[in-house]
Amino acid sequence: MKTSGLVFVFLVSTVIQVVFSLKCTPPTEAILWDPNPEKLVHSVVWGYHNTTFTPCDSGDDCNTTDDSFPVQLHPVEMQHGSVLRFIPSIHEGLPFTMKSVMVDEEGFLTCNASRTQQVTVFESNETIDIDARLLTPGTHYFIEASDGHSLFECSLGLRIKVVVKPSTCGSEGQDVTCGGQGLCATFQDEPNYKCLCCGNYEGAGCEKFNPCLSNPCGRRGQCEQDDEDPEKFSCECSLEYYGTTCQHKRENLCDVIKCQNNGTCVGNSTHFLCECPDGLSGSHCEVDLNDCSPMPCENGACVDERGGYQCHCEPGYYGDTCSNQRLGCSLNPCKHGGYCEDLTSDPKKFQFKCHCLPGWSGKDCSNK
Ligand SMILES: *[C@@H]1O[C@H](CO)[C@@H](O)[C@H](O)[C@H]1NC(C)=O
Ligand SMILES: *[C@@H]1O[C@H](CO)[C@@H](O)[C@H](O)[C@H]1NC(C)=O
Ligand SMILES: *[C@@H]1O[C@H](CO)[C@@H](O)[C@H](O)[C@H]1NC(C)=O
Ligand SMILES: *[C@@H]1O[C@H](CO)[C@@H](O)[C@H](O)[C@H]1NC(C)=O
Ligand SMILES: *[C@@H]1O[C@H](CO)[C@@H](O)[C@H](O)[C@H]1NC(C)=O
Ligand SMILES: *[C@@H]1O[C@H](CO)[C@@H](O)[C@H](O)[C@H]1NC(C)=O
Repeated sequence: MKTSGLVFVFLVSTVIQVVFSLKCTPPTEAILWDPNPEKLVHSVVWGYHNTTFTPCDSGDDCNTTDDSFPVQLHPVEMQHGSVLRFIPSIHEGLPFTMKSVMVDEEGFLTCNASRTQQVTVFESNETIDIDARLLTPGTHYFIEASDGHSLFECSLGLRIKVVVKPSTCGSEGQDVTCGGQGLCATFQDEPNYKCLCCGNYEGAGCEKFNPCLSNPCGRRGQCEQDDEDPEKFSCECSLEYYGTTCQHKRENLCDVIKCQNNGTCVGNSTHFLCECPDGLSGSHCEVDLNDCSPMPCENGACVDERGGYQCHCEPGYYGDTCSNQRLGCSLNPCKHGGYCEDLTSDPKKFQFKCHCLPGWSGKDCSNK
């Protein structure tokens, strides 16, 4: 950054007065809704300062658009209804004159004062409060466009983005205590004020009681609010814990694990293992391995069974895997429609008798 000896800055000071009591302590970053916004003043000092003051030290975002002057683009956030006050800085005893212009976003980014929506004042050396009617909820942009001072311009850093934040607390939007169960507040970078609820309350107006919000089951289980009595809850404990708030730790997970299909559980307080019989797998031995893959039956259909398989052989085959060819009648030895009778139940033996149709004879009915 080029040091010019002069640095243009604006200062923002926020006065917060909170005069209602709370049931719980808000986070320190919370900015509470002020019930008297007309007394809440956001002062912006426009002008010169000496180089001992560096605006970017404030922790706010800084931006440098022309490589020489730090520009604050970080918005001033103000409560809807509060006062935005522009103060010309005093240089060598005299206040600068300035012309504050309300522009659109592009006018803000490009320092184009012709993109004016509203002119707040003409050239003036007086402190002004921006007309409250201009400060509707949302984002507004102001730049300085001095006629008299060529230095005193937006392009040298004199611009400000203002976010006016409305309240969504309570049905009227201004219930500062949120039904007595919370407080109306906002945080930096949030678009509006809303209810921060105390304890076990939640909802837009902190109207809902939820016993699970205080996390009674801890990380040991899942809290469920009772459907019938919203004051009550139950804990769905993870495997390692039991008890109404999952407060007890199990000594052995096998106390609750049921291995299926005669699997045997081996475990301790954090781990378990089901040792499964052959043909089964899965964490609880619930998975029956497919014994038909790869296909064991050579000439037949396979039916998977627990820890095994069964082959249903095609005609003419036998054996556990249908790999043996059956002898006897299965080979259709009887010709010309003769009926074949197996003479043995032993499939390996070639013993059969042909009963021939009339007109045929012979061992295989082939003789006329
Ligand atoms: C710079 O500004 C600070 C704060 O306004 C003031 O205390 C200090 O005397 C100034 N220094 C010079 C050299 O003007
Ligand atoms: C600075 O401003 C430029 C142009 O407006 C923008 O693109 C950039 O993201 C800004 N940088 C930071 C850090 O805000
Ligand atoms: C400023 O804005 C006006 C109105 O939109 C436009 O006509 C003009 O060209 C702009 N000037 C610059 C320098 O961008
Ligand atoms: C402000 O400007 C007016 C009109 O130009 C002038 O009369 C007055 O003295 C100025 N006020 C201060 C404090 O310089
Ligand atoms: C478990 O084993 C018993 C005895 O060995 C047996 O009778 C029973 O059928 C088996 N149960 C299962 C599901 O395998
Ligand atoms: C429980 O068993 C697991 C697996 O065998 C082991 O890694 C772990 O250290 C054991 N935990 C305790 C508390 O004994």
